[in-house]
Amino acid sequence: MYTPLALDAFIIEGPCRLSGIAGISGAKNAALPALAASLLTSDQVSLGNIPHVADIKTMKQLITGMGVSIQEAAPGQASLSAHHITSTEAGYDTVRTMRASILVLGPLLSRFGEAWVSLPGGCAIGVRPVDLHIKAFEAMGARIAVEKGYIHAHVSRIGPQAGRLQGTTITFPNPTVTGTENVMLAATLARGKTRIENAAREPEVADLAVLLRSMGAAILGEGTSTIEIEGVDTLRGTGASRHDVIADRIEAGTYLAAAAMTGGDVLAARARGNDLEPFLAVLRKAGAEVDVSDAGVRVRGPKTLEACNIETAPHPGFPTDLQAQFMALATQARGTSHITETIFENRYLHAIELARLGADISIEGPRATVRGPRKLQGAPVTASDLRASAALVLAGLAAEGETRVRRIYHLDRGYSEMEKKLQALGAKVRRVPG
Ligand code: EPZ
Repeated sequence: MYTPLALDAFIIEGPCRLSGIAGISGAKNAALPALAASLLTSDQVSLGNIPHVADIKTMKQLITGMGVSIQEAAPGQASLSAHHITSTEAGYDTVRTMRASILVLGPLLSRFGEAWVSLPGGCAIGVRPVDLHIKAFEAMGARIAVEKGYIHAHVSRIGPQAGRLQGTTITFPNPTVTGTENVMLAATLARGKTRIENAAREPEVADLAVLLRSMGAAILGEGTSTIEIEGVDTLRGTGASRHDVIADRIEAGTYLAAAAMTGGDVLAARARGNDLEPFLAVLRKAGAEVDVSDAGVRVRGPKTLEACNIETAPHPGFPTDLQAQFMALATQARGTSHITETIFENRYLHAIELARLGADISIEGPRATVRGPRKLQGAPVTASDLRASAALVLAGLAAEGETRVRRIYHLDRGYSEMEKKLQALGAKVRRVPG
């Protein structure tokens, strides 16, 4: 398997029409909390369908640094044991490269009564504070101080708490995905019942509940806005069974958007139609043919795409992680598309790069206006974050001539072997050192 280099780029020859099957990997955003869940028990936790992407590698490095042992019997599988934990610290060097590292805070605090987790620091797409995580754990009885850029959290061992978090009601002002997951992880070993109100309803949150239940946790309500967790004294491992994480709906949506905007015909194999419905509804409105089956989701692009308006929202609203890909698609649609980004305040960095390819886009605060169709011309562009890089690749597939997408290390964080999957769909794309 090729080890991507920091400054790799993609060279894309367009335009092309994609057709064939894209094998969808396991979901990065389901695998990350699943790996963190291994910290909750000294028994073995077996996971499968784990995607081969950089963020997963980072999470594995983070927890092995704490003492978790990981055996990988086959690609995509991992047996984890947190029997000998030697450290409850998540260092700045790791956390600054991946915000999802915050997901170790809940399990460490709940099982060991103490954790040191670096504050994540800045992110290209928005400020992205973790105040809701901190407030939730304080409500569960943790003492939290931020010192030298680190969150130091501990649960008093003296008195009634005796080192254990206390179940309570947590009401999030807005749904937070990793916030909900962090509280779910912690609440499994807390004393009494925890009730999360205005919880995130993303499929990845529900998948974590399935894993935790297989470890002996008492959880109800995942997938709804109210999740209840009755704490237990200890959790077991997954025993003889293995938890395979769900398919990646964002990766699937990316290939399906590419099919729609290139007039192609692509089956996203293993993709789950229900998880993608908010996105598929928009593709249908734009004129694409969408077939959902047990095999996956198939999209056939129309001769002419029609402009559509979208507004991102927590699930089951339109996913913000497909907003950039939709913007690329809208450059090829007939008419004016309006996009409103409600989750992150700075998630239009791809727009200026799409304009370099000839797209007609204007931005006003959270609203973007895309006029199409526009004939795109290949050019060098630079990726700024994970989903922005996917949008630039999609635009390169539709553009005339050569597009060079620089800094695709962003892409490698969440897409497994994208160039190979695109080549299998008939695209002329190759990876070159930067
Ligand atoms: C998760 O991030 C995903 N990451 C993101 O995917 C995704 O964009 C996001 O959810 C929204 O769907 C993972 O699951 C690892 P949030 P998360 O907490 O949990 C604010 C990708 O491309 N907020 O749901 O960090 C926050 O600023 C990534 O794969 C606070 O104010 O997002 C945002 O405006 C990018 N305080 C909103 O809530 C907090 O303590 C929702 O963020 C937490 C969040």
